[in-house]
Amino acid sequence: MAATKEKKMSGKEASARKFLADLRAEILIHPGVGHSLLGRMNTDPRSKFDFKVLAGQHFALVGNFTRYMELLLLNAPDSDAKCWLAKVLVDEYGERSEGEDHAELYMHFMHAAGIKPGTEYDQPLHPEVVNFIREHYRICTEEPFLVGLGALGPGHEWAIPTMFTHAIAGLRKAGFKETEIDYWTCHLGQDKDHGAWLEEALVDYCDSAEKRAQIRRGALLSLDARERFWWGVTDKVASEKTKAIIPATASTAAMEAGQLTLRQLRERWKVEAKLVEKP
Ligand SMILES: [Fe+2]
Ligand SMILES: [Fe+2]
Repeated sequence: MAATKEKKMSGKEASARKFLADLRAEILIHPGVGHSLLGRMNTDPRSKFDFKVLAGQHFALVGNFTRYMELLLLNAPDSDAKCWLAKVLVDEYGERSEGEDHAELYMHFMHAAGIKPGTEYDQPLHPEVVNFIREHYRICTEEPFLVGLGALGPGHEWAIPTMFTHAIAGLRKAGFKETEIDYWTCHLGQDKDHGAWLEEALVDYCDSAEKRAQIRRGALLSLDARERFWWGVTDKVASEKTKAIIPATASTAAMEAGQLTLRQLRERWKVEAKLVEKP
């Protein structure tokens, strides 16, 4: 009996692993992961100025990521899933980066790229950057838990090593020193682990078509937002370059005046865990 049960279990697991492997393959060819801004780093090299603009936008994502995951942890249905999420969070808080959380680590890169210390939270954000953050708070608070896990596991941790491999090629070409791009290089290894841990969190939930659909939906919602984010960064790089050549045109000044900074987002947005009593 035990042997039959074990065989049945491993068949179930094999089917779950196959679904997750197919999802990994789908993610790696998503335009959010292989966006032209990243994919062309070798053929269309980016300057330090371009990376300064990118850093000012990308920091807003880095600075919100743990909050999505904390919200998801609250919704996790059991301790097994919570454990895997908590393991990732401990790294994000600085366990493997000498006590510096990943936002602090990112700031070193921002400074190397030319952003003045103290102004990290004051970069006007492209609307697609704000939309990315808003979408992830929505996913992690309003969607079913597995949609959230799909967004943060497959949608983030599985995608980041590939995205960052492209970015690192561009950063090296732009002349950054290895010590200045620690944030990027440390994620190649850490996010491989995080992706594997979240796969362990996912594998037990892939036992119905509905649950698999939720996981995939979360991953694709996240990556669709990611693709729009990279377009936003591309647009921001172009407008900042124009501004550097032709300073303070009325149109670019007006456009920027309407853009929120991360500091303003933190002041205006309140994400809360609250009690909802059903009748
Ligand atoms: Fe991180
Ligand atoms: Fe990670």
